[in-house]
Amino acid sequence: MQGGISASNGEMTLRPVESVVTAQRQTEGGGFVVRRPFPTSGLSFVDPFLLIDEMGPVTYAPGEAVGAPDHPHRGFETVTYILEGEFEHEDSAGHRGKIAAGDVQWMTAGAGIVHSEMPSRRICKEGGRVHGFQIWVNLPARDKMTKPRYQEVPRPNIPEGRSDDGLVRVRVIAGSALGAQAVIETRTAIVYQDFTIEPGGRAVQPLPADHVGIVYVFDGAARVGEGAGQQVVDGQLARLGQGDAVALANDAGSGKPARLLLLAGVPLREPVARYGPFVMNTEEQIRQAVLDYQSGRLGEIAR
Ligand code: CO
Repeated sequence: MQGGISASNGEMTLRPVESVVTAQRQTEGGGFVVRRPFPTSGLSFVDPFLLIDEMGPVTYAPGEAVGAPDHPHRGFETVTYILEGEFEHEDSAGHRGKIAAGDVQWMTAGAGIVHSEMPSRRICKEGGRVHGFQIWVNLPARDKMTKPRYQEVPRPNIPEGRSDDGLVRVRVIAGSALGAQAVIETRTAIVYQDFTIEPGGRAVQPLPADHVGIVYVFDGAARVGEGAGQQVVDGQLARLGQGDAVALANDAGSGKPARLLLLAGVPLREPVARYGPFVMNTEEQIRQAVLDYQSGRLGEIAR
């Protein structure tokens, strides 16, 4: 069959690219600029993913850096992955910390917290370059009011895989790829992987048939999907069709590495009611979240 490749457990069906959307530039929080493939007016979410924000890359002059000062969350998870620069974080439960290039913070907001996410004091004072991702992962109804939890994984502890020819490298935040298995625990099955594909490189990554899959290219261009693949360029998000693997490649003559995130997960298929930083199942639960925040029940950051 076309697009099929031999594998030890039989034939794998490569997923086609179903549709492509281009990320929009938006201003968030205290005024930082993000590239956002969704939510936009045309695409509100890709179950179980609620939001993808690419922060920067931006080079701040001294005193210019901005972030997201105190704000609440309830009902989902925020996953922050830093590529360049450093962010400082503090919250109403007394957590405080810094995440730097290559680090991941997987925060389960659950029943709710108030936190701030800012470029580090050093970057605010001296200026510097900032680049990273924040992705929102929805929680199933049964977990929306769970106790908040942090998983902070420093760069050396994020597993890395590589292809036999060395042309494809992957940092595995969730799921498994090219012999590397993630250390972060997720509430539902999630794949979150950062691929670097050198010119001429190609990888076929298994992706269970019950997962919804997306690819976001944030540098260069990649060929995604069966056969010759469809070209997906910097700032574009490809939604994958049915299958149980995805082919990711970079043309030999492209002249630069392709950088992309591969995200996948089992859709929750539950109602989504969202209002700013709250994502619940019903409007009534949203009203309760706003009320709880306004009356201080999500706490405040002690300073
Ligand atoms: Co936040």
